[in-house]
Amino acid sequence: MLNNLKPQAPDKILALMEEYRADERDQKVDLGVGVYKDASGKTPIMSAIHKAEKQVWDQETTKSYAGLAGQPEFHAAMAEMVLGAGYPADRLACLSTVGGTGACRMGFELARMANPDTTIWVSDPTWPNHLSILNFMGQANKPYTYFDADTRAVNFDAMMSDLEAVKAGDIVLLHGCCHNPTGANLTIEQWGAVADLLERTGAVPMIDLAYQGFGDGLEEDAAGTRLIASRLPEVLIAASCSKNFGIYRERTGCLMVLGSEETKKTVQGNLAYLNRQTYSFPPYHGQALVTRVLTDPALRAEWEAELEEVRTGMLDLRKQLADELRKLSNSDRFDFVAEHRGMFSRLGASPEQVAKMKADAAIYMVGDSRINIAGLNANSVPLLAKALIDAGV
Ligand code: LMR
Repeated sequence: MLNNLKPQAPDKILALMEEYRADERDQKVDLGVGVYKDASGKTPIMSAIHKAEKQVWDQETTKSYAGLAGQPEFHAAMAEMVLGAGYPADRLACLSTVGGTGACRMGFELARMANPDTTIWVSDPTWPNHLSILNFMGQANKPYTYFDADTRAVNFDAMMSDLEAVKAGDIVLLHGCCHNPTGANLTIEQWGAVADLLERTGAVPMIDLAYQGFGDGLEEDAAGTRLIASRLPEVLIAASCSKNFGIYRERTGCLMVLGSEETKKTVQGNLAYLNRQTYSFPPYHGQALVTRVLTDPALRAEWEAELEEVRTGMLDLRKQLADELRKLSNSDRFDFVAEHRGMFSRLGASPEQVAKMKADAAIYMVGDSRINIAGLNANSVPLLAKALIDAGV
C-alpha cells in the first residue's frame, strides 16, 4: 500500500528554513519564515506570556479534556480584541483551532459544508499555504488580482474588476492586515468599496487575520475586519495568536463566524463537529495564556507595550532599509519598503536574483522575493541593500 504514495514537494517556506539552518557560513541572514526575531536573532517569549504561563502552572489542577469547540472565555477575549468591545455576541459562533492555519482550514471546511458549490477567491499572490490547503481539499478556488509588481502597491481597480465575477455564496478570502506575502494593504476606503461589492453580490468575506498588531497598531489593524463585520450579514474570520502573542508552537487560533441569531446555534454545532472529526479537542495551553493576557489588566498592558515595541522595531527597520536603498540606488524606487506594513514585503526580485543573493551573500528570502522584515537588524540592513543592488534588482 505505502508504495502507492507519491513524494510530496516540501513546503517552500519551511524548506528554506531548513536550508538556512544547514548553511555553515558565519554571516548569514534569514529573511524567510514569518517568525518574529529581535535584533539578536532570537524569537523571545514575551514577558506577559511568561508570567501568564507561571500563573497557569500554579493554578491548573487538571489536564482532563476541556471544551470541544474551545474555551468560551478565550472566544470572548479574542472576539473583543478582533471585533472590539460591543461585538455582536448573539450572532457570533467561535471555534478554537490549531493555530491560524487550523482556523483557515476549518473556515474552508465550514464554507464547503454550507455551500458545496462555493468558489473561494484568493488574492494573487496569497500565502502559499492557502492555495495548498484548498487544492489538497479539492476545493474550487480562483485568484483575484491584488498586487502591482511595478508599483509594489495594491492594484485596486484590477482587484475590484476581478471580484465583479463572484457569485452569491462564494467566499472572498481577504488578509485583514499586513498582507502576506506582499506587505501592501487596503486603505479603509478600499475596505468600504469591498464591503459594497460583497453586499451587492452576496459573496461571503473570510478574513485571515494573522498579524493583528504588527502593522499600524492593534486597533488600527482590525479596522478593515470591523468595517466588514459591521456591514455584512455573514463573515468568517480566521485569527492567529502565533505572531502577536509569540506563541507559535502552542498552536493557538480562533475561527469566528458571524451569522444571524437564528443560525448561531447550528453554526456553533457545526464548528464543534468539525473539531471532533479532525482532531477532537483543540490545544488548551495557548488559549489559557492568551485569555489571561487579554483579561488581566496588568498583563494586558505589559503585552500591548511589548507588541508595540515589536511593531515599531519593524517600522524602524523598514525605514532604515528604504533609506539605505535610496542611497545605494540613487533613486526612490525602493521607497515602497517604508510604506508596506507588517512582517513582509515583496521586493520584486526575480527567482534568479533571489538565488544569487543566497549564493553570494547568504541572504535567504522566499523565492518570490518576500522578506521577513524582522529577520533584519542594523548590521544586516546594509548587507541586504548591497546584495539587492549587486543582484541588479
Ligand atoms: C509564513 O508565511 O512564513 C508564516 O505564516 C509561517 C508559515 O506557516 O508559513
